[in-house]
Amino acid sequence: MTDSEPENLQQDTPPEKPKRRFFIDTDPGTDDAVALVMALRSPEIEVVGISVVAGNVGLEQTVQNALYTVEICGGGVPVYVGAKRPMNRDLQTADLVHGRDGLGDIGLPLQGRTPAAESAVDALIAAAKQYAGELTLVTLGPLTNIAQAIQRDPSFATNIARCVIMGGAPDGVGNTTATAEFNVYVDPEAAHVVLHSGMPTEWVGWDVTLRHAMLTPEENDSIRAEGTPQAEFVADIQKPVLVLWEKLFGYAMVCLPDPLAMAVALAPDIAEHLPVHMDIEVIGSLTAGMTVVDRRPRPSDHNALIVTRVHRDRFIQMLHDAVT
Ligand code: BDR
Ligand code: CA
Repeated sequence: MTDSEPENLQQDTPPEKPKRRFFIDTDPGTDDAVALVMALRSPEIEVVGISVVAGNVGLEQTVQNALYTVEICGGGVPVYVGAKRPMNRDLQTADLVHGRDGLGDIGLPLQGRTPAAESAVDALIAAAKQYAGELTLVTLGPLTNIAQAIQRDPSFATNIARCVIMGGAPDGVGNTTATAEFNVYVDPEAAHVVLHSGMPTEWVGWDVTLRHAMLTPEENDSIRAEGTPQAEFVADIQKPVLVLWEKLFGYAMVCLPDPLAMAVALAPDIAEHLPVHMDIEVIGSLTAGMTVVDRRPRPSDHNALIVTRVHRDRFIQMLHDAVT
């Protein structure tokens, strides 16, 4: 560009699209780690913070797993320590699915990293205030931290623009009990607080996971074949899940509920959403943690969106894009 060129030519370059801001709450977990890689490597968003909760394994380990995942994606995102246990219950973990270290027991160095000093709840509240009306919250674990933020600050729920939750089993078929999905089962009281907080929630459940987020070992291998450290990481930590699935059902599969939720958060147009009236069972001896969807026609009562379908090919492509 020379001084003599007309001014309007200088304005032809389109302005850079502002990045959307995400805050992620998580309990890594093999599939959580994949979801974190997707977010941390997306050029379209900025992850302003990661809050960690106990869930798949105990809190100390989930924190270390989040810190390790951030590190292999280049670092620079604060990891905040959250709740050690659910609001009113003892912690139930899922190390059978994720390995004793939560990331597949493949010998990764998952200790010795330092989280941020601020607590998860304080950081969530501060970020929601700072980016009021624009922050996307993505939750990939039991909802304890989020419920505590709601209870501590009445403006928290309304400051969040969009909340995408991996949780629930809208068809009534659970993965932890007959009726409950793990994240809601572990802390149903917290899920109840979140659902009734007025925050706009989108629930990516176990049913849609089974339909669209199960990968064959070959699909997992083709992600690994991208050859980057992140590709090897996301594929290799799936080992115990492959083994477990083979043992339970006679064929190996990789199961990616949290990445599916992250894909919906990153690219809303890959999903179909249904507005529903839903509630969370907190008492039932057989049904604690069940997401009860009222299928009667009551359109004026809708209090949540559930995701009913996701474009599988685009989801798989997003997994590849995240590691190339
Ligand atoms: C959810 O439970 C956890 O084990 C996974 O990380 C996922 O968030 C699926 O029910
Ligand atoms: Ca999780």
